[in-house]
This record gives sequence, structure tokens and C-alpha cells, in this order.
Amino acid sequence: MVEVLVMNILGIETSCDETAAAVVRNGREVLSNVVFTQIPLHRPYGGVVPEIASRAHVEKITEVVREALDRFAALDSAGRIDAVAVTYGPGLSPALIVGLNAAKGIALSLGVPLYCINHIEAHLHTPFLYDSGEAPAAERDVESYFPALGLAISGGHTNWFSLAEIGEYETIGQTLDDAAGEAFDKASKLLGLGYPGGPKVDAIAKAYYESFGSGPDAHRGWKASLEPFPKGQPREGVSQLAGLSADLCVSFSGLKTALLRYVQKHGELLETAEGEACIEVPNVGSVSVELARIVASYQEAIVGAVGDRTRTALRRGAFRSLIIGGGVSLNSRLRGALKKIAAEEGVELLTAKPKYCGDNGAMIAALAYYRQNLAGDEALAADVRPSLEV
Ligand code: KG4
Ligand code: ZN
Repeated sequence: MVEVLVMNILGIETSCDETAAAVVRNGREVLSNVVFTQIPLHRPYGGVVPEIASRAHVEKITEVVREALDRFAALDSAGRIDAVAVTYGPGLSPALIVGLNAAKGIALSLGVPLYCINHIEAHLHTPFLYDSGEAPAAERDVESYFPALGLAISGGHTNWFSLAEIGEYETIGQTLDDAAGEAFDKASKLLGLGYPGGPKVDAIAKAYYESFGSGPDAHRGWKASLEPFPKGQPREGVSQLAGLSADLCVSFSGLKTALLRYVQKHGELLETAEGEACIEVPNVGSVSVELARIVASYQEAIVGAVGDRTRTALRRGAFRSLIIGGGVSLNSRLRGALKKIAAEEGVELLTAKPKYCGDNGAMIAALAYYRQNLAGDEALAADVRPSLEV
């Protein structure tokens, strides 16, 4: 009889503002996934406050891990945890410490190995996750999707990687300043739309786009109406490129400045005045047409830059697929644009289920099945690595 090997890994993630734990079987099948989001705690400050994040992780970590283990036990009463995996970087140091210490304690008490995992790498594994009892969206073995172009796009990162196989990665492009998510969040703050900005910008831009109707004429009309914001293309030869090619990198600082100038000059146009034309946006409310136009223009500049660099990268390498992960990969316009680009360039696009796009423990547990940055005594002695690179 052939013995089927089963490996259940408990994954713990506390690198930013989500306290998360999950149990994943054999690197893909999610048996439990618990995420406690701290967004309401940070909202008044317009961004994540490390000290608040750290305290909230301390308060929540036990409950979140217990819940993940209980849900796993409810599915598989005879199942056991074979290893513990944890994010040790990159991220906020006081936040990472909470998860790493909890994971060390749990691994020691269970008498199982501890694995330290890179958060960005884990985001790139999310399209392979599927819920227990469901069929996976990426049907084949993980290895068959490589070599792949990886795009990790979140609040802290915007990086393009050439992924030869699992664990063999090379950075080929990146942002020279703000990450795409950060650019969304900063614009949202400036326009008084609240935190986190990405989902609000996405919803407003979508409502603006839809206000033009459908069909090619509507698309042309919408495109023509947009404010010509800078397209995020760095100049060749600037020192921040650090040896990377400018046509595979983005820079969003000029875009941010252009938005600030616009607001300083035309701020009154963005207000919702009595009798003025407005657009109703789900989960946001009523916004002036001009505000919606500016938000859509800003998003389009980011999507245009990311799409353009992705197409260039796809043309430059021999890739079987395009894998995207991270919170910004939820952006509906970006997903649509990358889907079109992948189809035109003849590669398969792999995206995660929405619930696995933001930070979660499942991606940490899943990647640990394939790859561990640190294991054994080295992991038990590890310190956090806030600036860890892939
Ligand atoms: O991956 P993630 O949860 O945390 C980090 O590792 O950063 O990403 C959070 C980021 C935030 O900047 C948030 O505004 C952005 O993802 N985001 C979006 C959308 N949903 C979340 N950005 C654009 N469009 C969205 N729909
Ligand atoms: Zn993340």
C-alpha cells in the first residue's frame, strides 16, 4: 500500500496590522484561516502605528492561534500539527517580534520544527491556496507554473521577480520610492477619503468608469476625460535604480506631487456642493464628479505604470505564468489590465482568492511546505528581520 504523506503546518503572521494564524495541509489546502484586522485601530491616524500594532498583536495572538487550531480540529479531529511557520520579515519590528516569539513557544511546546518565512515570498504563493473541500483554481502541480514572472504588490512593496522555480528568485524591477498601496493610501488621505485608501480609490474609480456606460465609445470617453498625471516612469541612469533597468521600475513620487498640486490649485472643485453633479459610490457615499475623475486618473496612472512594466518584463523573459500577490492585487482595474496583458503575451495569470490577497497566516504555512528560510535551531534562535529581502 502506498502511504500518503500528510503535513499540517500552523502559520503565524504579525508583520503589519493583521494578527493571523492558519493551518494548511501539504502547502495548498487551507484547513483553517483566522485573520484579526487592526484597521479600525489605525484609521484615526491615517496609517499603521507600530506601537499600537504591536500591542494589539500581543492582545490577540493567543485567541487567533487558538481559533485556528480549534477550526482545524473540527475538520480533522485526528490531525496533528507537524510544524510551525512564522513571518520573520520584512515588516514592522515590534509587530514581527510578537508573532516570532509566539511561534517559538508553540513549536517548543508541541515538539515540532519551526520555520521562518519571508512575507513577500509568501504573498507570491497565495494563488496556489484553496479551501479544504474545494477544487484548486490553479489545478496543476505548483512546479508546472514555473518559470514565472512574480509581481508582489502591497502597502509595503512593489517588486517584479523572475521566478525560475520555487526558491530561486531574482528581483528584476521595483519601485524607487513609494509602494503602489502606499501611493493609494497617501492619495486617499490627501483627498480626505480615509484609510486604507486602496479599496476606496478602487470603488470611486469604478463608479466613475461605469458612469460612462459600456462599449468602446464609453471607454474612449472615459479615457479622454482623465487628468494627464505622470506615468511613474523613472529616468535611465538615476542612482536609486541600483543596477536595475529603468523600464522595469516605477516611481510614484512625481504622481503624488502632481496630485498635491492639483488639490492646492483646484481643491474647491473636489467638494460636494449643493446642486453639483455627484456619483453614488458603494461603501463610500456621494462624491463629486470631479473628485471621482481625479481619483480615477490617479488610479489609472498607477495601473498604467504597473501594467506597462509587467508587459515589458513578460516580453524580456521566457515565462509560463504571471503570478500576482499582495493587497493591491485586489484592485479591480489592475486585475482587468493584467488579465488582458497576460492574454496578449500568451501567459497564464494566477491571482489569489480575495481573502488571501491581504496579509494572512495561510500563505506563511503554505510556503513553509516548499521552502524555509530558516529551520531547526537556527529558526529558534532567529531575530526578526524588518528589512529582509527576497
Ligand atoms: O498585502 P497587504 O494587506 O499588506 C501589506 O503587506 O502591505 O496590502 C495592504 C495594501 C494597502 O495599501 C491597501 O490600500 C491596498 O493594499 N489595497 C488596495 C485594494 N485593497 C487593498 N489597493 C488598491 N485597490 C484595492 N482594491
Ligand atoms: Zn503583505
